[in-house]
Amino acid sequence: FSEFLTDKFGRQHTYLRISLTEKCNLRCQYCMPEEGVKLSPKDNILTAEEIIQLSRLFVSEGITKIRLTGGEPLVRPDLKEIISGLNELRPLGLKHIGITSNAIALQRRLAGLQEAGLDQINLSLDTLVPAKFEFITRRKGFDKVIAGINKALELGYNPVKINCVVMRGLNDDEICDFVAFTERKPVDVRFIEYMPFGGNKWNTKKFVSYEEMVNVIRERWPSFERLSDKPNDTSKAYGVPGFAGQVGFITSMSEHFCGTCNRLRMTADGNLKVCLHGNAEEKEAACRHDKFIQDGKQTHDPNWWVTDLFYHAFSLEKRLQIESLDVMMPNWGPT
Ligand code: GTP
Ligand code: 5AD
Ligand code: SF4
Repeated sequence: FSEFLTDKFGRQHTYLRISLTEKCNLRCQYCMPEEGVKLSPKDNILTAEEIIQLSRLFVSEGITKIRLTGGEPLVRPDLKEIISGLNELRPLGLKHIGITSNAIALQRRLAGLQEAGLDQINLSLDTLVPAKFEFITRRKGFDKVIAGINKALELGYNPVKINCVVMRGLNDDEICDFVAFTERKPVDVRFIEYMPFGGNKWNTKKFVSYEEMVNVIRERWPSFERLSDKPNDTSKAYGVPGFAGQVGFITSMSEHFCGTCNRLRMTADGNLKVCLHGNAEEKEAACRHDKFIQDGKQTHDPNWWVTDLFYHAFSLEKRLQIESLDVMMPNWGPT
């Protein structure tokens, strides 16, 4: 394994998340304001060709899984072309190509994407009640999402992962309905703890912890049991014995999983972020992070090794001249 993508905490980065666009066709309250987010200038957004070229470099350094995210990745008309390009990287060591999507535009396009090489699919759905969907996402589209999920099942994706952000007073009464959804279908419903993000109106009253969710489910299904997690999963796996699908919890707030995180993130305009919560502007925090690790705590410091990485991350102007990642990040690696 290339030392290159191993950080000084011993984490081997084999998973690259690429944001294809900042745009989205929904406006989920926990994610985006009604007016949308400020978009980078159009010319700064990586083209399909650039994405494939950069991915080739990462795969040759040990990345085995690429997930395409957004915004909403299906907003990009060239998504199929991107997936086809990535598919050609399999002989170099790429094993998985996934997307995380809101499923609005999936039904019609999924067969083509699958043909191009898409093999993993994570979809967002926070409610099973159409009117609530419209409230949470500020848009219509519930039926399309359900059709998208059914299409994914029909095309044999197994599991189809469904991300559900749980918010008190909004959808916490549907936790068991979502679990029931796993009874007959090979879906992996993952309940995500609601996080403060992008100026959303997060507060502790709306927060429902993993522990509370497990208790609610156990009241109805006492046999609800912990299963073993796959390495580097961000979710904790559970299930009701005999059910076709599983349940997971993404405990971003109550129990951090930074220690096993193996993801790198590329933004739509071609910068690298090492943490979902990264604010790449502050370099001080990276030092604080070292301290937390030394204290034996693992915490959500937003700026993992920013000093190592971000300051050598590629800029848009340079990116096409890069021939190897060493040039891009000369100081990378265990120190
Ligand atoms: P797979 O493991 O490949 O299925 O993907 P994933 O679960 O990482 O990806 P997905 O895009 O479905 O993200 C689901 C949720 O995982 C996100 O909403 C985040 O809350 C959480 N997540 C993913 N990566 C990280 C991470 O590095 N840190 C934190 N805190 N949360 C993460
Ligand atoms: N808290 C928790 N999860 C969130 N997501 C987006 N914003 C938040 C937030 N504030 C989830 C989406 C999607 C996944 C990639 O991230 O629901 O499923
Ligand atoms: Fe954000 Fe995803 Fe909702 Fe779009 S669908 S607003 S990207 S959470």
